[in-house]
Amino acid sequence: MSVSIRTRLLASLLVVAFASAAGLSWYFLNQLESVSLRMLEERLASEAMVAAAIVGERGIGNPAPLQAALLEADPMIPSRMRILDGAGVAVIDSAGEAGLGIDYSERTEVQEALAGRYGAYTRIGDDERFGMYIAYPIRAEGLIIGAAYASAPTLSVTNLLRDYRLRLGWALGAFLLVTLVFAELLSRWLAKPLRQLESGTAALATGDFTVRVDPVGSRETRAVAEAFNTMADEVERVVSELKNEERRKSRFVSDVSHELRTPLTAIRGAAETLLDGDVDPEDADRFLSTIVSESNRLARLANDLLALQRIEGATGELPLSRIDLSEIARKAAEALKPLLEERRTHIEVSGEGPDVLGDPDRVQQVIANLIDNASRVAEDGTVRVEVSAEGDRTVLSVLDEGPGIPEKDIGRLFDRFYRTESSRARASGGSGLGLAIVKAIVTAHAGEIEAANRPEGGARFAIRLPSLKE
Ligand SMILES: Nc1ncnc2c1ncn2[C@@H]1O[C@H](COP(=O)(O)OP(=O)(O)OP(=O)(O)O)[C@@H](O)[C@H]1O
Ligand SMILES: [Mg+2]
Repeated sequence: MSVSIRTRLLASLLVVAFASAAGLSWYFLNQLESVSLRMLEERLASEAMVAAAIVGERGIGNPAPLQAALLEADPMIPSRMRILDGAGVAVIDSAGEAGLGIDYSERTEVQEALAGRYGAYTRIGDDERFGMYIAYPIRAEGLIIGAAYASAPTLSVTNLLRDYRLRLGWALGAFLLVTLVFAELLSRWLAKPLRQLESGTAALATGDFTVRVDPVGSRETRAVAEAFNTMADEVERVVSELKNEERRKSRFVSDVSHELRTPLTAIRGAAETLLDGDVDPEDADRFLSTIVSESNRLARLANDLLALQRIEGATGELPLSRIDLSEIARKAAEALKPLLEERRTHIEVSGEGPDVLGDPDRVQQVIANLIDNASRVAEDGTVRVEVSAEGDRTVLSVLDEGPGIPEKDIGRLFDRFYRTESSRARASGGSGLGLAIVKAIVTAHAGEIEAANRPEGGARFAIRLPSLKE
């Protein structure tokens, strides 16, 4: 069962309010009762004594004038005064003639008085209210001739409840109303930050990841709000990463299919022409070599994509060992000799630097890709590979004598399939995956790569890897 905070608050407030009101009332009424009983007894006793003295002086023989005087005064006197004769029978009653002749001899306090003592008693009287009854002997010439009998209702809780029932009802109603209003305001005030949290959570659940709540209210709700905001930050970040990843993937797929289309179109065109027949042998050779070179290109593309996939998918699984960058650079240059000769390019490897931790095959691929790019733009020129130390890094730079990189492209060179305009125009161009692979490998080695134009012309690609201590 789900009960709202408001209902719980209301219920508990009402319980607390009623319990404390009832408890306090009970306590004070009881105090009042005992104080009023003492005062009442004093009053009734003195009234009884005065009456006894007067009646004792005048005798009990002719009660009528006294009865008349008392009747006249009665509406102003809260107590009831009776004069009893020696047998305990009322001869005077301030409450009226109807009380005359009633025998009170059975009552303890009356018996006490007729025996010459002071009698006091509190009991539920004829009117069903708590009353105090005081009897005092009337003496005449040493003999007890009767008793003065005074009584009055007490300020007991029972009497008060009887007398003020209606007013109590009203007071209770007002009390209830005030409590209700108070509880309502209080619960609104307390529940407000929670309601805000509730709507925030609902918004988050329906996909609004920008929603945040104000940390207001009590310490606890503030802590919850802060936790909510932290969670929302995290969710927003993860969602935006997922969206980016999604976008990257779909762009990747469209890039790949676009890249596949060009060689496939070339292959199909050549093949169809050959199938048509009627091609002179020289042209046929040309078409066949197109088919071969474009197929090679497709195979290379597939290999590069696979390599990229492996590097980016791998998490700390590289077979690392202590390697010397200049040694690997020499190996890479050696392996590329035929290609460099074909492009009539010279290569020079120079410098030394501290060893680094790396996967030798992958690092060689990095250097080879950079040399391949450099030799492509610098035919008939020299490609220089330099190794050096720079702080706690070992730096390997590949410098060429080509036209350099257009300033606007520098930021995007390392994106997959990205090529500058001049290299797109060139038929010999690659697929634009080389630098993406370079960047992925360098990043997996906790290194950085940077491309820049040299002041004296040409481009410089520098990779920096953390140096190993001796
Ligand atoms: N040394 C350089 N000088 C000028 N431009 C360069 C140089 N190296 C790379 N580029 C530019 O950066 C682009 C991306 O290079 P990347 O190595 O990623 O692709 P690619 O060489 O075109 O093809 P791939 O390496 O996949 O065969 C190149 O197409 C070229 O436009
Ligand atoms: Mg390349």
